[in-house]
Amino acid sequence: MSELVVEGLRAAVDGREILTGVDLYVRSGEVHAVMGPNGSGKSTLAHVLAGRPGYEILAGSVRLDGVELLELPAWRRAEAGLFLAFQYPVEVPGVPLRDLLVASRRTPDDPDLVEARIREEAGRIGFGERFLERPLNVDLSGGEKKRNETLQLAVLAPAFAVLDEIDSGLDVDALRAVARRIEEATRDDGLGVLAITHYARLLEVLEPDVVHVFAGGRIQRSGGPELAAELEETGYEAYLPAAAPTPADAPADPFADPFADPFASGTSP
Ligand SMILES: Nc1ncnc2c1ncn2[C@@H]1O[C@H](COP(=O)(O)OP(=O)(O)O)[C@@H](O)[C@H]1O
Ligand SMILES: [Mg+2]
Repeated sequence: MSELVVEGLRAAVDGREILTGVDLYVRSGEVHAVMGPNGSGKSTLAHVLAGRPGYEILAGSVRLDGVELLELPAWRRAEAGLFLAFQYPVEVPGVPLRDLLVASRRTPDDPDLVEARIREEAGRIGFGERFLERPLNVDLSGGEKKRNETLQLAVLAPAFAVLDEIDSGLDVDALRAVARRIEEATRDDGLGVLAITHYARLLEVLEPDVVHVFAGGRIQRSGGPELAAELEETGYEAYLPAAAPTPADAPADPFADPFADPFASGTSP
């Protein structure tokens, strides 16, 4: 049994605070869905958890079984058991998928064993064998890249996976295959999942234990699976910051009553 504990996580990019205080507690075998509007900081959360450079950590901690991940480079976090499936997987010319996985310390030493695992997992999610020879992600379609991420996840068997929109770009059949494989990993291997997604469709197969509404760089509300269905209906409007004009950008009204009660509301036309 493992646990991933995020507490008070705040982070900035280019001096602008994007994560404004994230708290999360994910245990082995659990699926936590993170749903929120574009630009709310979901990918930033994924990147900061995985240790992508370029983010300034302002406060907080990320512990995997008590080990502080924020002090470790990305590769050590991966070694500790954290996996990130990118929203936009990177193309790596010259490096076939097999070489990448054989080189990982999370796979067996014997390349033939790794090779066998790769082929077995490729079959399970309908990922063509021809992709295994190609340089990583080069010239793959969006959906193929997402299947490639899932294949890596299955072979590496991490303790926790952060999935950044693993469903985007997948057609319905591929989505079901990918979601089913990840759901099986939660049951068979105790994989803990943080699934960032816009759509409840992924969560029909990959069943969440907890659904979080993420907006303004933090979790605004948490609930059960029914919250995903509710969000599909209502959208995220209720969680967006109010767009009321501030005094600074509202032009002064030259005809305003100078004696009007400044605390009265709803009196202007
Ligand atoms: N490297 C970066 N440099 C500058 N701004 C960034 C960078 N990465 C993200 N941002 C900004 O941070 C905010 C959150 O982005 P992101 O985490 O990608 O949101 P989401 O994944 O929820 O759509 C956006 O306003 C985005 O423009
Ligand atoms: Mg994103």
